This record gives sequence, structure tokens and C-alpha cells, in this order.
Amino acid sequence: MTDNDKTEILKVLIADDEPASRFGMKRALQKQGYLILEAADGREAVRICREQRPEIALLDLNMPKLAGMKALEKIVAADNPPLVIVVTAYGSEKVAVDAMKNGAYDYVAKPYEVDELRMAVARAAETVMLRREAEKLRSEVRQGVGFGRMVGQSAAIRQVFSAIEKVAAADVAVLITGESGTGKELAAREIHARSRRSAGPLIVVNSAAMPETLVESELFGCEKGAFTGAEEQRQGKFELADGGTLFLDEIGDMSAGTQAKILRILEEQTFERLGGGASIRVNVRLISATNRDIRKLIETERFREDLYFRLKVVEIVLPPLRERPEDIPLLAEHFLGVMVRKHGRGPRAITPDAVKALVAQPWPGNIRQLANAIENCVVMASGDEVRLEDLPEDIVKPGAADASAIAVRHDLPFREAKQEFVRSFERTYLLRKLEENDGNISRTAEALGMQRQNLQQKLRDLGTR
Ligand SMILES: Nc1ncnc2c1ncn2[C@@H]1O[C@H](COP(=O)(O)OP(=O)(O)OP(=O)(O)O)[C@@H](O)[C@H]1O
Ligand SMILES: [Mg+2]
Repeated sequence: MTDNDKTEILKVLIADDEPASRFGMKRALQKQGYLILEAADGREAVRICREQRPEIALLDLNMPKLAGMKALEKIVAADNPPLVIVVTAYGSEKVAVDAMKNGAYDYVAKPYEVDELRMAVARAAETVMLRREAEKLRSEVRQGVGFGRMVGQSAAIRQVFSAIEKVAAADVAVLITGESGTGKELAAREIHARSRRSAGPLIVVNSAAMPETLVESELFGCEKGAFTGAEEQRQGKFELADGGTLFLDEIGDMSAGTQAKILRILEEQTFERLGGGASIRVNVRLISATNRDIRKLIETERFREDLYFRLKVVEIVLPPLRERPEDIPLLAEHFLGVMVRKHGRGPRAITPDAVKALVAQPWPGNIRQLANAIENCVVMASGDEVRLEDLPEDIVKPGAADASAIAVRHDLPFREAKQEFVRSFERTYLLRKLEENDGNISRTAEALGMQRQNLQQKLRDLGTR
């Protein structure tokens, strides 16, 4: 909430037929900094709500002209109605319950303690503010806070946006790295869309899924009869991408043979179709991506350094979601809108409690995992809002399902997959303990039976400090 919102003056309507009663309420509330409006009967209350749009209305249910309950119905049926706190006679709880069913926000029984009245109004004021904040967030999302289709406002993601902007204009080879689900493909699409090549094609090649025997026909195409099964001439991906961008995804999983073939075409700039004569020259911009630690792959000689330098004229690193938690509310709202449109139904908002729980998650699967969690809520939630209890189990009760929240990296060899899993576990576990101890490292270390320095080093190694 901005300071601006905090200092905003809320209008409170007091609707009661007894002047003394109005006076009492007014006195109780005026000092709290509200702007007080008054109505002496139900009809006037409805009119003032329509014309002056108070945020909160205190409505006595025993009033002449238009009875309180009828006035309530009219008030809450209007566009953007105030939160109505009904004032009932002591002992008439049933009436109060009926009023709540009819859309009242809260009730206070007469005679009331001044503090009780103030508390009820303060609670309503808090709700007004929270709703405004949520509305502001939604309108920011509608206006597209971020960069093209990429949502985000954090310093870390803004650096990515500005890098994308620069390389888009430059027509150089770009390597995009980052954990799974951080938005590498989306970033590649954004680069293409902002480049001079945007009118040309963007062709995606999944290097990992490509069997080595088919690399050449896939990438370079083939002439009719080049091999059994080649019944007609086919263009390869490089040719299809002519004048546009070729996106080589998952390059960290490319076989040695494929690496050699791709390097050759990058060096020679020309190629021939399989079984065909004339050499073909194409004008293609290369963007590649991997979620593997490419430097380690080079060190262990599983990725060619010469190819790496060709692909990485510029490298863009996408930060994991847990390193930019301030983007989570925005992304959650964004995906809520996307998923409600996709399914044609679903909740309109996420309660502040639920947003807080989302922000506290480590999100090992990053933005993709967040999108899936929100989709789950849209499909499963029954109310108007996503509440804390509507969040997927592993988010509400992280302790019970932490292990399943940690992604098993089936794409890695055993040792690395195990290392990654352990790291994720350490991160999830330590961050939670740290949070339980209000971020105090000494206290956390003590609670865990660890040396303070060890914990600090561990957090640094995990990239969380
Ligand atoms: N900044 C963002 N704003 C909105 N949506 C995003 C953002 N980043 C990613 N997404 C969405 O999250 C999902 C995952 O993104 P993407 O496929 O680009 O990730 P990736 O890094 O390529 O993952 P992997 O390594 O698993 O291939 C997609 O649905 C994408 O549209
Ligand atoms: Mg991808």
C-alpha cells in the first residue's frame, strides 16, 4: 500500500433516524479521520450512497420511509457499493444474520461500546484499502506491467528487459540461460518480435529431442530420394528460418555429433540439402537456450567450447523466480486473468493471505510452476476469490509436500540430478527455517544445530544471500 492510499480520507455514511444516535456515532468516528455523511431515513441513505459514494455505510435497520433491510438491498445492488455495517437492536441476532445474507459486510448491536464501533469501521476501512490495492494491481496487469508479453517489475527482470531491447536491435547470436520455467522461450520470442526480422519466421528447434541420425535432414533438409523414406524434397529448419530467427532450444542436451554439424554450418554459412547439389546460403539469426550449467558442461567436455563462443555473442541470464519475489503478486494476477479467460470461468481475485503464501514459496519450477498452481486454483476454487485454503496442497502445507514441490531433474545424469535435488531441498528447508526465525541467521543456526558461519556460507552457496 502506498503512503498515498494510507492518507486517503474515507467517507463514512451514518444512517439513523435518531439525531442523538447519529451524533454519538459521529463523535466516535470523526476523530479517526473519516469524512462523515449523514442520513435520517432509508431513502436518503440510498440517495447519498448513489450520489456521494461513501466507502462505508453504518445503517440502522429500524428507520422510517424505507425500512433498513430494503435500503440495504438497494444500496448493495448499486455499482461499486459501500461496505455496509448494519446496526441492530441488542438481541436481534437473527436480523443481523439476515442482513449479512443480503450483502451487509458486518453488524454492530445497539447499545454498542464506542471501541466496538470503531473496530468494526476500522476493519471495513482495511478491507476497502486491500481491495483498492488488489484493483490497482489488476489494472497494472491489464496495462501490461512488464515488457511485451513478459510480466515483471523487479530490478532483476528489468535488467533482462533492457538486455532484450539492446540485443533485439543488434542481430547477433544470443544465448539465453536460466533454470527451467524462467521464461527463456518467451524471451527468445520477444527478441525476435522486436528485431528487424520480426516480419520473418521464428523457427524453433528442440536440439535435445532431435535424434542424431535425423539432424541433417531436420536442419538442412533433403532432396527427393536422398534416403529411404525421403519421398519429396524437404526444406530444413535453417532454410525455413531464412530472413528470420532460428531458436535452438535445449542446446545443453545436444549430442556431440549434432554439435559438430551445427558448428560447421555456423562457420561455413552455407550448407547443402541431404543428397542435393547446390549449396544454400541463408540469412538467419540464431538464438539458443539451455537450462543446464553450460560452463560446467564445457569443463567436463560435454559441450564444445568453440560452439559455445559462436552461440554466445551475448548471454542473457533469466533469474529464478525466488530471487525476485516482488514479481510474484503481479504474475499471479496475470495468470489468474489468463486462466479465467482460458477456462471461461473462475475467481476474480486472490486474497491478500493467499498472495502472501505464494510469495513465500521457493518455486523450483519457476514461472511455469506458478502458472500451473494458478490454473489449478481457477479450476478447483468455487468462490469469487482464491483464498489461502484454495491453494494447492503443497503450497498451503509446504511441510507435508516439500519433496514433491522440488522438481526432479529427469533431464540430468544421476549425479547432477541428485545434486540439484539436494540443493533444492536445502534451499526450501533453510529458507523456511529462516523465515520462521524472522530472517535472523544466528537464531536459525541455533534452531538447526548448525554453526552460524556454516549456515551463512550455505545460504551464499545456494545463491540466497
Ligand atoms: N515474465 C513472464 N511473464 C509472463 N509469463 C511468463 C514469463 N516468463 C515465463 N512465462 C510463462 O511461463 C511459462 C514457462 O516459460 P518458458 O517456456 O519460456 O520457460 P523456459 O525457461 O523456456 O523453460 P524450460 O527450461 O523448462 O524450457 C510459459 O507459459 C511462459 O509463457
Ligand atoms: Mg523452454
